[in-house]
Amino acid sequence: MDVNEFDFEDRIMSTEYSAEDSETEVGLRPQTLDEYIGQEKAKEILKVYIDAVKLRGDTLDHVLLYGPPGLGKTTLSQIIANELGVNLRITSGPAIEKQGDLAALLSNLAEGDVLFIDEIHRLSRSVEEILYPAMEDYALDIIIGKGPAARSIRLPLSKFTLIGATTRAGQLTTPLRDRFGVLLRLELYTPEELATIVKRSAGILDVPIDEDGALEIASRSRGTPRIANRLLKRVRDFAQVMGDGRITCDIARMSLDKLEIDELGLDNTDRRMIETIIDFYDGGPVGLETLAATIGEEAVTIEDVYEPYLLQIGFLSRTPRGRCATHLAYDHLGKPFKKKAASSQSDDGQMKLVD
Ligand SMILES: Nc1ncnc2c1ncn2[C@@H]1O[C@H](COP(=O)(O)OP(=O)(O)O)[C@@H](O)[C@H]1O
Ligand SMILES: [Mg+2]
Repeated sequence: MDVNEFDFEDRIMSTEYSAEDSETEVGLRPQTLDEYIGQEKAKEILKVYIDAVKLRGDTLDHVLLYGPPGLGKTTLSQIIANELGVNLRITSGPAIEKQGDLAALLSNLAEGDVLFIDEIHRLSRSVEEILYPAMEDYALDIIIGKGPAARSIRLPLSKFTLIGATTRAGQLTTPLRDRFGVLLRLELYTPEELATIVKRSAGILDVPIDEDGALEIASRSRGTPRIANRLLKRVRDFAQVMGDGRITCDIARMSLDKLEIDELGLDNTDRRMIETIIDFYDGGPVGLETLAATIGEEAVTIEDVYEPYLLQIGFLSRTPRGRCATHLAYDHLGKPFKKKAASSQSDDGQMKLVD
């Protein structure tokens, strides 16, 4: 297959977990807080809580991890269980269909265990209701019987820790969000942090790599460890075929250019999105839904996957009236930036699509 034929689902730069990650991700996952690179703020808070809990022989408060995909939420939850020396059960919002499924999971937890619910914003409301008393009082409220004879009994649970992960904290209901004692937002990584991750992964995969080679991969990985590890594997293949197996700066640069990932880590889809804002909507503002329809992506995909990085590098700005391309984006695409008055141009732009 031609390397440039990937559609979104197969996008190399996708932050979503894909089958090709599975073989490497397992081995590359850091096991302890010390091995976990970056996210200093989150790590510092967790260290304090974990130490305190261990001193008191207590159970860790419920933790909510949020941030874009691929930043290390699943990894961090495994590390927390590891550092606490307790069992970890893993499930996800969409996987829990009935109240009974969650009740069964909860009642099987032992004292101190961690239950990890990935994509917790996708729990159904009825399942979520089981969680409220479980998180707050470590109890299950079960209704027995039907009609007027129905009564509720309360079953005690072991004291456990719930770790929820979500890409969209804003979609969590307030009662659920309020029951988490520790809320940690994961941030995009700096190129230096990612270079450290790339070197660590290269070591595990037994691939020789130069400092510059690692930094080259890191700076094209859009702040995301999952992408950095994936690019490392791609570049390793190129290094073996075109060189002697060592990842040098030149090899990294050449391979990533071939994969059409530019110096900032933007791929064709990113460039198409910015180009659309500039060419169709005169730089914006353009509404999220309109933009999504124009480039044929889901609005949530734009919000979760493309935007965080484009916002971070200052290519996009979000205004109440929609998304705008900044002059940095114009410069990057080699398009002349014309400063315009804050007029109603966007409305014209949006009309184009509506009719
Ligand atoms: N802080 C980190 N240090 C080293 N590697 C990391 C770090 N965060 C994530 N990774 C790597 O990135 C991959 C994706 O992380 P993951 O925890 O699955 O992300 P998320 O659950 O947020 O989508 C992991 O397999 C791991 O190898
Ligand atoms: Mg995950």
